[in-house]
Amino acid sequence: MSSFHCWLLLLGIGLHHLLFTSAVIVNNHKVGWSRPGDNYNEAIQPEQVHLSWDGDASHMTVTWNTPDRCDSVVQYGLQPDNFTEKQQGGVSKFMDTGDGHRTQYVHRAVMLNLQQRTAYYYRVGNGEVWSKVFNFTSLKDGSDWSPKLAIFGDMGLVNARSMKRLTKDVRLGRLDMIIHVGDFAYDMNEDEGRVGDAFMRMIEPLAAHVPYQTAVGNHEYWANFTQYKNRFSMPGSENGLMYRFAVGPANFVVFSTEFYFWLQFGFLQIRRQYSWLRKELASLNELQTREKAPWIITLGHRPMYCSNNDRDDCTKHESIIRTGLPVVHSYPLEKLFYGAGVDMCIWAHEHSYERLWPVYDRQVFNGSNLANPYENPNAPVHIITGSAGCREKTDTFLNPAPWSAFRNADYGYTKMHILNLTHIQVKQVSDEKGGNIIDEMTLVKDRKRRGYRYKKF
Ligand SMILES: [Fe+2]
Repeated sequence: MSSFHCWLLLLGIGLHHLLFTSAVIVNNHKVGWSRPGDNYNEAIQPEQVHLSWDGDASHMTVTWNTPDRCDSVVQYGLQPDNFTEKQQGGVSKFMDTGDGHRTQYVHRAVMLNLQQRTAYYYRVGNGEVWSKVFNFTSLKDGSDWSPKLAIFGDMGLVNARSMKRLTKDVRLGRLDMIIHVGDFAYDMNEDEGRVGDAFMRMIEPLAAHVPYQTAVGNHEYWANFTQYKNRFSMPGSENGLMYRFAVGPANFVVFSTEFYFWLQFGFLQIRRQYSWLRKELASLNELQTREKAPWIITLGHRPMYCSNNDRDDCTKHESIIRTGLPVVHSYPLEKLFYGAGVDMCIWAHEHSYERLWPVYDRQVFNGSNLANPYENPNAPVHIITGSAGCREKTDTFLNPAPWSAFRNADYGYTKMHILNLTHIQVKQVSDEKGGNIIDEMTLVKDRKRRGYRYKKF
């Protein structure tokens, strides 16, 4: 055999091996990382595919972008090559506010009639040109399951140190949901939105496979948060600035801390949000609701406490987020959250991790067990998790205040396991220490807060 024929034979074996391996990958449901879409067409090729969830287990929302306008269709089903369901979505024009008026189209569609806790495959497109095939596992209604979440803020396009480990967690099915608590891409509006596009492509291996829920941060401020409002699809009618959803036995209340700091975009929205928070927290405290899903967890970008060595609001004795607007102290959030029996407040913005003791008005509140302040605590527990990785690197600390229980400035992210009606586990993953857990806390609530009545606040 000539050397030319030898090479042909080897090439044939290689191709056969490649095709065979691809089939094995498909059968193991690892599609979405290996398979190209059908009928590639650059002008209307779907990209930046990401999921979000409205709190109904029979739904999953998918959002994607195309350079030109076209139809919005999602196909889905239980097999990667047999899509039995189809939904039509809607499309909206998204024009960047930069001089070039760069335009793209954002498509949104809701997959309906999903069976609970079931593996699905889907692709998006215009009916002819398709994305590659992605998979996800649907969620579950009610309190009788234990969702696993990754929560972090402040992840940029550059130096996104947690991406690799988060991707592994998603691929291995270790997460049901991701919550990104503000500050995306650094910044999404830069280079006429191309930085936002690149960031959304970067997170696709996460966000196309588990719902990627979001809160707004200060790095989204450009043109009144237009990049954030256009790119994500959160529940409710407030463009993802304030909304709530329940997952398992926990209710998440998401709000904008940024209303307090960017007054050029309107003062009244602080009041409007405060009223909304009061109303939502009151409704979550209806006895029946709270007994069914007893955990209330708030998500906002800028913390009300922190012990970092910068001049951020949270370092102040009377931070705006905690005590309200300067001098007049209007719309203070700590009083509201404490009164409503909020269990946990999750924040980011500081590029580090910090766990607080249960605290109200700068005083540590012990729980029912003096040896463990996290057992039936009498005040909310705060977690600050903003070290997922960005170009601004990590933050340093001042001497800890008495309410600071643990802090660390390694790059990493927080894992939350909502175990049941009485226990929530929080762990901090360090990327710098090979994925080791550097902090762990279990919040226990098996009786109502002392002196607290669900219906009266
Ligand atoms: Fe921030």
